[in-house]
Amino acid sequence: MKNEAIDPYKAIFEACEEGILVVNSSGQIIMANMASHRLFGYENNEMIGLSIESLVPPALRTHHVKDRENYDRNPSPRKMGHGRDLAGRKKDGSEFPVEISLNRAQIEGVDHTLAFIIDITERKKIEVALKKSEEQLIVYAAELEKRVIKRTQDLDDTIKQLEQVNADLEDQVRIRKKAEDDTRLALSRERELNELKSRFVSMASHEFRTPLSTILSSASLIERYREPGTEEKRKKHIDKIKSGISNLTNILNDFLSLSKLEEGKVEIDESTVNITDELKDIIDELSTICKDQQTIKFESNPNTIVLNTDKKIFKNILINLLSNAIKYSEPSTEIFVEMAEVDDNIQIQVTDQGMGIPEEEQKHMFERFFRAKNATNIQGTGLGLNIVKKYVDMLNGHITFKSKLNEGTTFIVDLPK
Ligand SMILES: Nc1ncnc2c1ncn2[C@@H]1O[C@H](COP(=O)(O)OP(=O)(O)OP(=O)(O)O)[C@@H](O)[C@H]1O
Ligand SMILES: [Mg+2]
Repeated sequence: MKNEAIDPYKAIFEACEEGILVVNSSGQIIMANMASHRLFGYENNEMIGLSIESLVPPALRTHHVKDRENYDRNPSPRKMGHGRDLAGRKKDGSEFPVEISLNRAQIEGVDHTLAFIIDITERKKIEVALKKSEEQLIVYAAELEKRVIKRTQDLDDTIKQLEQVNADLEDQVRIRKKAEDDTRLALSRERELNELKSRFVSMASHEFRTPLSTILSSASLIERYREPGTEEKRKKHIDKIKSGISNLTNILNDFLSLSKLEEGKVEIDESTVNITDELKDIIDELSTICKDQQTIKFESNPNTIVLNTDKKIFKNILINLLSNAIKYSEPSTEIFVEMAEVDDNIQIQVTDQGMGIPEEEQKHMFERFFRAKNATNIQGTGLGLNIVKKYVDMLNGHITFKSKLNEGTTFIVDLPK
């Protein structure tokens, strides 16, 4: 066996892990290292003399010949990893992905093409796997997005439901609050009414005493005046009894009116009323309780006024105002009642020349049980004006007054036509 000197280039050539092929201008392999034999499944040196196209899949061979000719005309080094993924064909016909770099080299003065080849099956697998997972990722992302949309939708629905529940709750709270308010109002009215009743009882027990004792003493005196010639005295006491009884009746009537008003039991009963005539009747009626030389003057402008109103309420208002005018002024004074059309109202003024109302107390005028301090010696319950005010309100009217201490008082009632 000849001991050849080892050519270091040859050693490197053979030791290289990449397949290296040297191809001449007609496409024939003139050198192939061991790695290339392994790659393409050939026995040692079997590849020498093969056409390079035999390593290319049959479908690509024609194209490869043209590529090779182009490269020969315009040779420039082509590095690996430039996206030129090619296919190689093994001896057994199976195909596998390769990457190839090309270079030119002069061997014995002639241009040859050097091809470095690596098997990229594994890389391709990884790439495919990567692509697959990328696609899966896209699918997953799309799925995720769908889920997010669905969740958002669900959340929106839940929020809407919650809002509805909230609105319902608010409604319920409102309803309950209204019920509470109503109950509270009813309760406070009830309490007020009770208070009114108990105040009335204490006031009545006080106010009833005077007329009752008058009645009692007059009755006993009448019993004594039996002899002829005492008729005058008897009549005087009978009158006292009558007035005492009428006082009591008035107090009771006031209280009944107020109770009814408070309980909302008074209803308006409208009719066409000749209020001029009505007022004249009231004045006639009240002149019987006028004090000595007290006169009531009446003026109506126009002469006859007709109003759509509740006759009883109208009467009640005027009786109250007129009896106050009589009660709170001295004998020999005049009381004026004037009725006129003013704008859209009928205006009635009741003026007296009486004791007047102290200025500092005027603000309490229409309060229930109010009695001015200059009137405490005169019989009264302090309910009259409170009732009047309520009646005037019911007729959508308006009541005011002007008063000067020891000079007189005017009450002004406006009723809409
Ligand atoms: N014309 C008036 N002149 C002076 N004071 C008056 C006049 N009218 C009312 N007042 C004062 O207003 C108070 C309240 O009057 P109101 O008519 O409500 O009650 P009263 O006359 O005391 O009792 P009642 O009318 O219930 O018998 C009176 O007590 C009195 O002090
Ligand atoms: Mg009165």
